[in-house]
Formats: sequence, C-alpha cells, structure tokens
Amino acid sequence: MNELSQQEILDTTARCVMQTYARYPVALVRGEGCRVWDAAGREYLDFVGGLAVNGLGHGHPALVGAIREQAGRLIHVSNLYHIGAQAALAELLVSNAFADKVFFCNSGAEANEAAIKLARKVAKDRGKTDCYEIVTMRRSFHGRTLAAMSATGQENIHRGFEPIVPGFHYVPFNDLAAAKEAVTARTCAVLVEPVQGEGGVHPADAAYLPALRELCDQQGALLIFDEVQCGMGRTGKLFAYEHYRTAPDIMTLAKSLAGGVPIGAMLATDAVAKSFSPGTHASTFGGNPLACAAGTAVMETLLADGFLEGVQARSRHFEARLRELKARHPSIRELRIRGLMVGLELNVDGAPLVTQCLERGFLINCTMGNVLRFLPPLIVTDAEIDRLVNTLDELLP
Ligand SMILES: Cc1ncc(COP(=O)(O)O)c(C=O)c1O
Repeated sequence: MNELSQQEILDTTARCVMQTYARYPVALVRGEGCRVWDAAGREYLDFVGGLAVNGLGHGHPALVGAIREQAGRLIHVSNLYHIGAQAALAELLVSNAFADKVFFCNSGAEANEAAIKLARKVAKDRGKTDCYEIVTMRRSFHGRTLAAMSATGQENIHRGFEPIVPGFHYVPFNDLAAAKEAVTARTCAVLVEPVQGEGGVHPADAAYLPALRELCDQQGALLIFDEVQCGMGRTGKLFAYEHYRTAPDIMTLAKSLAGGVPIGAMLATDAVAKSFSPGTHASTFGGNPLACAAGTAVMETLLADGFLEGVQARSRHFEARLRELKARHPSIRELRIRGLMVGLELNVDGAPLVTQCLERGFLINCTMGNVLRFLPPLIVTDAEIDRLVNTLDELLP
C-alpha cells in the first residue's frame, strides 16, 4: 500500500468517510509509548490515549507480541466452537472481579445493549410483568446504538433519532433521593458509570454506589456499572467499583480491555447470567481469538506486580501539579481526578485550549464544552505529565 501524505488522508476522508466526527487536521500514523507521530512526521504527546483505549500506550511489547503470535495462529473462528483465547480471558476477568460469567462483544455500546437485554430478560424470567424500566443518570454516556443512546442521559444525543427506546428514566447523578423516587416495581435495573467520563469526569460520591446497591436490593432491581471508560486500571484500581466497597450484578467493559483491538465485555453473576441461554443473544466477532489474546496481554500487564501502584503514584503526581496550576489560574473552576482519569473544569470555553495544545504537540480532549479531559496511557511518566502541565501553565488565562 502506498503511503498517503497527510493532505491526501485529510482530503480522502472528507470525500469518502461519513462526517460523524469533527476531526483535527492531523492524521496519526505511528506511535510508541505515549508519543504519536502524524503523517507529516510531527511528534505529539498523547493525553487522549484513544479516549481511554490505549491503556498500555502505543506499541507495548506484551500487547504487540500477543497480537502477532495470535494473528499468525488463528484470527477468527465462530462461537459455534470453543475458543481457547476466549476462555482464558474470561477466566482472568471473573477471577479478578465480582462476576462469574462473561459475554464478549465488540464495543462499549454493544456491551451496554447486552446488559439492557439481560436486565429485561432476568425480570421476565423472575415472573415480573411490566418490569422493563431502567433508571440511568443525567450527563451519562452509554453509547450510540439505539438502546445505549436511549440509556444516555443527554437529550442532545437523542435529538433527531426519536422515538427513543421506551423505559429509560434519568435522574441527577449522585442524588440518592431522586433515585429512590424513580426506582419502582417496574424498574428492572439501575445503570450508572462509577465515574462519569463523557459527562465531564464526575466520580460517584463515596456513599452513592453502596446506597444504590441497597436500593436495588430492596426493590428487586439489578445494579449495572458501566466501566467502559473508567475500568481496566484507569482509576488506579483494576475496576472503579473497587473504590466503593460495593459490587454490581452486571458490569460492562470495552475501550482499553484489549488495548486498542475492538472488544466489549459484559460481566455478570451466575444468578443473573443464567437468563442468557443459547439463542437469546450473540455476536459474530464477540470473543474472537485475536481480540481475546490482546485482552489477556492487557490484563496480565495490569495485574503484574506494581503496575496499578504505579498508576496511583503518577495520579498523585498529576494531581499535585494540577493543584499548583489551579492556584495560579483563575480560569480553572475545579479539578476532578480518579487515577489517570482527569477533568479540569474551566470558566471559559475549552476548545481553543485543545487547538493550542495540538499546535504545541500535545493531544488533549475537551468534553461538555469546558472540561479539559486527560486520559493518558497508564504508562505515562512524571516527566511527560510535567511537560503537559508546564504547557497548560503557559496557555491558560
Ligand atoms: C462510559 C461509556 N460507555 C459506553 C461507551 C460507548 O463505547 P463505544 O464507543 O465503544 O460503543 C463509552 C464511550 O465513550 C463510554 O465512555
């Protein structure tokens, strides 16, 4: 394949790719660790990390080695047969989480679709009639497929696609009284991100998730955690719910689970998982050997001695540096940080800052209009964090 120039890539994209993204005028073609290069040879420090996908950074030897090895042996076979790589990843997941069983798919939205279907099916199997409602949070994000979009508590994301899937009720995040009012005998589940990501990096309050657990138990509803963004070591623990001394019935994962190879997973307890029997749900690519071999390499790396402690240490360094920054810049309204999931809420529009950072060789993201969001590879170094913070110091009003 002939390598296209940066301009050719931009032009061809404009001509041939549906315009669902407002893209920066940069085509990234190579990466190593936390650095990426564009087609013009320019280097950037990556604090977007594929939006929480590149947990191990770019070109991590364990991940690349596992993908190469598996690609040479077997890329795909049907789920009509047993798949060794799938069994191995499932075992690693269940032995390190609350869950007993895993269903594999290909993305976060699909994992949430599976969770929504499973919650409805469990209610049916328990003989509950008219019990299909799901309470979700305002400012949440669960994906772009029809049911995941409908679960998402942001009206601007529904606009133009109505009627949305019925049965979703949105309550303010971290507001237990509102959840108590919304959860009724018709509620089959409560769906919540332990740390809201797209919504602007908002962690659940310490007492909120345990209280939702109690509420769900009282009402006979399931508790679903969407850890698509905040799972897989992002918060300094393998799963974000571990910070809360509580556990869900169902949890969804995707993004960094296979370090950039498309994958999604829905984990559940046996009591719940048994409602999915042959013929109730499926995915052609779900749990394929290539994706699962990548997922196993990611899991083994995260579980290796000292890895998550390292994430926590770098989070402390990042936090200390950002607190200094906040003290110097009145344009910073609030800092919210869990591990290496970082939101810096500004009093001003964040978009110009993102462009200025790009011009200086830093990839950062802005969500909700004014929240600068940093989701670097978990292997980011203190020195790389310092380079970003020093640049923000020069740019912020
Ligand atoms: C919490 C959460 N859930 C679900 C999704 C959807 O994942 P995907 O884009 O892989 O469908 C996202 C994506 O940003 C997310 O952050």
